[in-house]
Amino acid sequence: MILAVETSCDDTCAALVGADGVIAANVISSQEVHDRFGGVVPEVAARHHVELIDAVVAEALRRAGASMADVELVAATRGPGLVGALLVGFSHAKALAASRRLPFAPVDHLAGHVAAAYLAPARFEPPFVALIASGGHTLLLEVRDRTSAAEVLVRTLDDAAGEAFDKGARLLGLGYPGGAALSRLAAGGDPRAFEFPTGRGEEFSFAGLKTALLYRTRELDLSDERVRADLAASYERAIVEALARRTERALERTRLRRLALGGGVAANGPLRARLAGLGAELFAPPLELCTDNAAMIAAAALDQAPLPYPDYLGLDVYATGEGPLR
Ligand code: KG4
Ligand code: ZN
Repeated sequence: MILAVETSCDDTCAALVGADGVIAANVISSQEVHDRFGGVVPEVAARHHVELIDAVVAEALRRAGASMADVELVAATRGPGLVGALLVGFSHAKALAASRRLPFAPVDHLAGHVAAAYLAPARFEPPFVALIASGGHTLLLEVRDRTSAAEVLVRTLDDAAGEAFDKGARLLGLGYPGGAALSRLAAGGDPRAFEFPTGRGEEFSFAGLKTALLYRTRELDLSDERVRADLAASYERAIVEALARRTERALERTRLRRLALGGGVAANGPLRARLAGLGAELFAPPLELCTDNAAMIAAAALDQAPLPYPDYLGLDVYATGEGPLR
């Protein structure tokens, strides 16, 4: 059994996964405290991880009907993410491993999102193109096999897709994180009511889109529910098109006919529908495996050589912009 810990952002996560990829427990404790700040406050997130991590690991063991004696390998997210938040889970996991002289696997968060596809019962295997779109990252990857690092095909020049959803939601007076709320509002609107930019080049770019919405909100009457719904629908369509067109190009370029999704934005209904129309075999994980979780970290750990005790004790974490998929 692998015990994995994930604390790269604001979710405190622990999971127990078998060597066969079967999830025995996948505990996710979301910190709703950030809502009132309109975004994740790094130090607040780190302090909440400190308070929660021990209980979350204990709950994962309880749900799996296991004890530390059943754990053969400990894994944790090393980065990218918020350094203070990462340090809590990473250090906690190292200490758990060291206390029982267990091997330890430091896992890249993005490799984790990809590895969510390998978990039972789906076991969606490479080769495939992966679209990882969340509040923190947006990239297209070519995944050739399970052991070598994936190749980054497309990245974002500015905001992540989820960030674009969240900023749009904020301009429309919805809460944080606002992706799902914006999508609910959009469901009653006309996606062709307004023209929004989808970014010009090969890479993703959402900064212009957000600015375009800002200008629209200044000239329109936002107390009109119809207007708000049309704005949301048109804005959502622009994000979906930006993601789908580049995904289509990536599938053509790699000649792959298989596509795996990851990240919170993969929960978006119109995005899933649009991608399903690309003709590739589509794997969209269940919601709890799309958003940040520790089961995916365990899945990634299955494919890498763990470090024996005590070689990992001095390991540090890394921030955004580092790691094998930077
Ligand atoms: O993967 P995730 O839980 O955390 C990060 O690593 O960021 O992704 C959260 C992001 C947020 O930006 C949220 O607004 C977005 O995913 N999101 C959605 C939907 N559900 C969550 N965006 C669009 N449509 C949704 N249904
Ligand atoms: Zn993530």
